[in-house]
Amino acid sequence: MSYYAKCWFDYKTVVVSGASSGIGKGLVKRLINDHCCNVIGIARNEKKMKALVEELGDKGDRFFTYSLFDVSVEENWKKFAAELEEKGIIPDIIINNAGILPKFDKFLNYTMDDINKAMQINFYSCVYSMRAMVPIILNSPSAALVNVASSAALCSLAGTSIYSASKAALKSMTDAVREEYRGRLYVGLVCPGFTKTDIFHNQKEVKNSTSEKALQMVSTDCEKMVDMIIEGMWKKKSDMVFGSDAKMMDIGTKLMGVGIPMVANVVMKISKLELFEDIYSDDSDSVKAAIRAARRNVR
Ligand SMILES: NC(=O)c1ccc[n+]([C@@H]2O[C@H](COP(=O)([O-])OP(=O)(O)OC[C@H]3O[C@@H](n4cnc5c(N)ncnc54)[C@H](OP(=O)(O)O)[C@@H]3O)[C@@H](O)[C@H]2O)c1
Repeated sequence: MSYYAKCWFDYKTVVVSGASSGIGKGLVKRLINDHCCNVIGIARNEKKMKALVEELGDKGDRFFTYSLFDVSVEENWKKFAAELEEKGIIPDIIINNAGILPKFDKFLNYTMDDINKAMQINFYSCVYSMRAMVPIILNSPSAALVNVASSAALCSLAGTSIYSASKAALKSMTDAVREEYRGRLYVGLVCPGFTKTDIFHNQKEVKNSTSEKALQMVSTDCEKMVDMIIEGMWKKKSDMVFGSDAKMMDIGTKLMGVGIPMVANVVMKISKLELFEDIYSDDSDSVKAAIRAARRNVR
């Protein structure tokens, strides 16, 4: 598809969360450079947002930054929506992309803090954003909502219980909202597979390790992922499952159900990658960790 053809979101105003890095940053660049959009970018890291303005050069004035904005705080979304209304700005599109990937681990090793943080950033941030932004966006004739979930929403692998749960919750909510507003609001759900971004930097031993090489091998380039998302939005696709690993997980789960996580578990276990070490540590260790975590949470 030629990017010079007229596209329904050319010249639109788009809100992108998680704009400072990875997929979100890529989307900002494409929307501004190729589609002449005005983009309101949301993220916490001010330095990275300023660097992106610089990177955009002459077109930097199309990028409006809301740094120090934590998407997991409902009040921030309410204030943001009030400010837009006060200024008479009606965004056409919101892309809820901000997210985190908790460290791969066994369910019982996660603390309630880990669980709450993942749910707040990956799921509740979208609840808050949709409650604040959808009523405004519905005033646009090109109203659109795009939520970035993950292939983990389609197939839940060992070590990803909390991440998968947060993304599956987002998928379910998005699917229902699509039907509720069909005809008035384009609702897209993106389920990327592994993508080369900074999201893995919290993971154990990922830098310069065999795990990093393995991740690089199975991961899609970030630019390619962004291309596929832009094209999917252009075609107003509802489900955007991108990346060969994501497609395999999606089709495999439809055909084989829990057989896919079972096979993946065996492969992950025998791979002996540092990345998955905590998932396969001795059970007694995880029980001890759970007792420690439970004690911490009681205090
Ligand atoms: N990379 C993958 O393999 C992959 C696979 C499937 C799905 N995804 C999903 O794709 C989305 C983008 O991830 P990515 O890979 O591009 O990761 P990334 O490079 O780590 O970017 C994550 C973005 O989210 C922002 N963010 C995180 N927590 C935030 C918070 N509390 N408030 C505001 N912004 C916050 C970060 O900005 P600040 O740090 O500046 O706040 C950053 O801009 C995520 O939802 C992720 O779950 C990624």
